[in-house]
Amino acid sequence: MIKSPICDKLGIKYPIFQGGMAWASNYELASAVSNAGGLGIIGAGQMPPEFLVQEIRKAKENTDKPFGVNLILYLTYIEELVDAVIQEGVPVVTTGAGNAGPYIKKFHDAGIKVIPVIPSSALAKRVEKAGADAVIAEGTESGGHIGEITTMAIVPQVTDAVNIPVIAAGGIADYRGFAAALCLGASGIQMGTRFLATKECRIHQNWKDMVVKASDRDTVVTGRPTGHPVRVLKNRLAKMFLELEEKCAPASEYEKLGTGKLKAASVDGDVEMGSLMSGQIAGLIKEEKTVKEVIEEIVSQTEDFIKNMTKFIK
Ligand SMILES: Cc1cc2nc3c(=O)[nH]c(=O)nc-3n(C[C@H](O)[C@H](O)[C@H](O)COP(=O)(O)O)c2cc1C
Repeated sequence: MIKSPICDKLGIKYPIFQGGMAWASNYELASAVSNAGGLGIIGAGQMPPEFLVQEIRKAKENTDKPFGVNLILYLTYIEELVDAVIQEGVPVVTTGAGNAGPYIKKFHDAGIKVIPVIPSSALAKRVEKAGADAVIAEGTESGGHIGEITTMAIVPQVTDAVNIPVIAAGGIADYRGFAAALCLGASGIQMGTRFLATKECRIHQNWKDMVVKASDRDTVVTGRPTGHPVRVLKNRLAKMFLELEEKCAPASEYEKLGTGKLKAASVDGDVEMGSLMSGQIAGLIKEEKTVKEVIEEIVSQTEDFIKNMTKFIK
């Protein structure tokens, strides 16, 4: 069976995380992933604290396995979300968009493991020094907010830079990506886009269908000039963001155009003007499946694949 030190550290069966996804990974997806042996993660996004508390409680009703909450650190009311997570006693927190350092002690004092998502070796070293339990090294192939370095390049460099477990994220959706991540030195994987096209994911069916129909060239990065680039499926909204870049529009125009667009995709299924965050690996995803099918298939196929790798040695 595929196992790594992160499994014992977190009390999970398989070293597979479902990435926290604002407006896409609620308690239903997170608890389904945890029940299937991975680590499900609620994407807190910009949830009000009392809403997050409800999500955590519902996750606990639906699974007795460990699960996590992902927090976006740049929010003005982040302290309230931190307190909500501590009050509810979530086992694991992953953090995105910022330096988790200042919060790590507070979480540890409450018995919560902290696993920051990082886009570079420098930040990985910084959070390790601050006490992070592991890091998620996320490549630019990913859906959502992204860094500049590819998964292939960042994972081995981060594993060399730190002594804590490294989880690889970005561009992984099947056994080949899982095996490759292990070969690069990772202790596990995090998938986001693959879990969008699952029965338990509560995004609108129109968005799921777009993921399943996508080909390898169907994503684009918008918002680079703002310093917060986002990978999305190409649509009218993405085109309008790119037009803002062409005319060197101020940050306020990006903000105005982007407001409410994740909700438009997730709840209303607006595939033209919604923000259809998705990774480059969408082109590999051909079918909506249950979470259990996704996890059992990737685990068994990766095991077989790794066992057969000796065929390259003559
Ligand atoms: C729709 C969507 C929303 C996301 N939202 C967040 C988020 O709120 N916080 C975060 O840290 N990462 C977020 N991500 C990144 C995922 O957690 C994960 O790291 C990434 O999807 C992995 O790459 P992949 O899409 O190629 O599987 C998001 C990704 C997607 C596709």
